[in-house]
Amino acid sequence: MLCKLSVNINKIATLRNARGGNVPDVIKVAADIEHFGAEGITVHPRPDERHIRRDDVFNLKKIVTTEFNIEGYPSESFLQLVEAVKPQQVTLVPDPPDVLTSNAGWDAVKHQSFLRDTVARLRQNGMRVSLFMDTELKQIEAAATTGSHRIELYTERYAAHFASGDKNAVLDFAAAGRYAHELNLGVNAGHDLSLDNIRFLLENVPQIIEVSIGHALISEALYLGLQNTVQMYKHQIKLARNME
Ligand code: PXP
Repeated sequence: MLCKLSVNINKIATLRNARGGNVPDVIKVAADIEHFGAEGITVHPRPDERHIRRDDVFNLKKIVTTEFNIEGYPSESFLQLVEAVKPQQVTLVPDPPDVLTSNAGWDAVKHQSFLRDTVARLRQNGMRVSLFMDTELKQIEAAATTGSHRIELYTERYAAHFASGDKNAVLDFAAAGRYAHELNLGVNAGHDLSLDNIRFLLENVPQIIEVSIGHALISEALYLGLQNTVQMYKHQIKLARNME
């Protein structure tokens, strides 16, 4: 199966906020990224609005024609935001509001009943739910009992090992992908994926049906251009899936 590319545009908002005006225009960039071939737009609105703001989320919902994915910690205010916006997918992450970026998957064993209630609430409102998870199998098993549709594998560890020449770190991700699939969980992946490391991950974890990529993609676009970069990711995905 092919894998969808969802582009995380937090960094575009960071750049805009650095000057206080509307350059670059986050809404226009999102529309252009879709036009260049991405199959989804991801944002991670944080309580301090340091990149994506609440009003961005509402404005994006009006123009995103592919899949809109909103990530965040399920505080009451986050849940009310996504209930008002109704994106196609909500990715729940366990990080506290002040962290720089997501840095761990859920402890779904410990937070099983909280996650079960939260997932049920989002499902009732018609949204697909994904839980950000490390590769530990007992955690994935617990994630499956929450009623979540999908998990998103937290790929930071894979990316760090790959960069240092150690490709074996992909094996845990392959096992996690297989196990999630057996448990009827869809498998997404994200964090520190790049043009260098995405193909090897997808070749080894064929269950991945969506990747969410922000930091590296926007950084690569500084040299390669945004349109070209999006298309290069799609090419890597096609190569990994033997579609080309
Ligand atoms: N998935 C989740 C849950 C995230 O928090 C982030 C970062 O916002 C990403 C994916 C994308 O990570 P990166 O910016 O490293 O591509």
